[in-house]
Amino acid sequence: MEFSTELAYAQHLDAQDELASFRERFVFEDPELIYLDGNSLGRMPKATKPLLNELLDKYWGERLIRMWREGWFDLPRTAGAKVAGVIGAQPAEVVVADSTSVNLFKLALAAVQARPGRHKIVTDNLNFPSDLYILQGICEVVKRPLTIQVIPSPDDIHGPVGALAAAIDDDTALVTLTHTVFKSAYVYDMAAVTKLAHDAGALMLWDLSHSAGSVVVELNKANADLAVGCTYKYLNSGPGAPAFLYVRQDLQAQLGNPVSGWIGQKDMFDFGLDYQAAEGVSRFLTGTPTVLSMAPVLVGAELLLEAGMERLRAKSVQQTEYLIKLWETELKPLGFALKSPLDAAVRGSHVALGHVDAWPINLALINEKKVLPDFRQPDNIRLGIAPLYTSFTDIFTAVSRLRAVVEQGLHEKYREAATGVT
Ligand SMILES: Cc1ncc(COP(=O)(O)O)c(C=O)c1O
Repeated sequence: MEFSTELAYAQHLDAQDELASFRERFVFEDPELIYLDGNSLGRMPKATKPLLNELLDKYWGERLIRMWREGWFDLPRTAGAKVAGVIGAQPAEVVVADSTSVNLFKLALAAVQARPGRHKIVTDNLNFPSDLYILQGICEVVKRPLTIQVIPSPDDIHGPVGALAAAIDDDTALVTLTHTVFKSAYVYDMAAVTKLAHDAGALMLWDLSHSAGSVVVELNKANADLAVGCTYKYLNSGPGAPAFLYVRQDLQAQLGNPVSGWIGQKDMFDFGLDYQAAEGVSRFLTGTPTVLSMAPVLVGAELLLEAGMERLRAKSVQQTEYLIKLWETELKPLGFALKSPLDAAVRGSHVALGHVDAWPINLALINEKKVLPDFRQPDNIRLGIAPLYTSFTDIFTAVSRLRAVVEQGLHEKYREAATGVT
């Protein structure tokens, strides 16, 4: 069937979708609501509630403190092993702990300390602001001059690959980038950029927050050194779920955790007074695992593994292509600009649209039309596609409602509203 802007075409694509049944594995309390914010907070899997109920009733309620030795101390590794399958790593290379920001601090500082003669961290201006704040904090604590070189994107959409290559030199300790850029969804070539860092003798740290569960990530194949990322986005692990971190196996013994706590101690129950790092990736743990918010990572990662990242990526590409075609015919004439790459090969799973009235349109979409997108300053409406549960009909409906907002001027009354995020 040829592309068309009619509902029947979206329904045809849904009928052909071999992953369509995964939608039933998620909670849809309001069938009218079109949710396009899975790139910020993923939907709740149905299996999460029974898991948490069991955790509360059976494990906390009945087993009490015995559970620490019966699985809870191992949860960062058990959950990490599942996440490893999603990001192309070995089970012994990933743990779940802390937030992405804290994990970035631990790994970036560890990397900088492992390159003592070097004075530069290279990144780009498409990186998530928290990542830059963390790097600035690292420059404050390191006992040597250390600067951050922030390479600007040529168009605020694509990564500045050529300029990065020119900036990475033998004074560079660390290169760190967000793999799928949070605003535009541009995706870096992980193997190529990692090689640039390695050729200069630097370490490479990837933020996979918008990649894990949305694009095929092959950390091992790319010979990546270090990575961090969120689990509450495409890994559907819930608000505040802890993040993951990855350290390539052969690097683990060479790097030290600067937030050296007892959970990363070699023999934690000996309660010795001098810190000795645990073997393997466990040394990057710090404090008590946040069991209640960590357990849902098992469900989220298992769903992705069951669907298979190759199949999910194929569906995501098909869906963003469909959305961009709809943009071209339905939204471009109304003043919407595409703020994501046109080339699917370098585009993740959300599509950013710019508009001079983006903020009031975003509010009207939420309040008048029951579509939940996501907004990033100054004029970005991000439409996040989570191929596990977003349907082609969702995309069709969101575009029709977006069009109706502008055509009917429903955003006019939101002009004065204070700006923020959704
Ligand atoms: C790309 C990226 N990096 C880092 C973060 C920060 O994560 P956390 O709040 O878990 O530290 C986010 C949060 O949305 C993000 O999108």
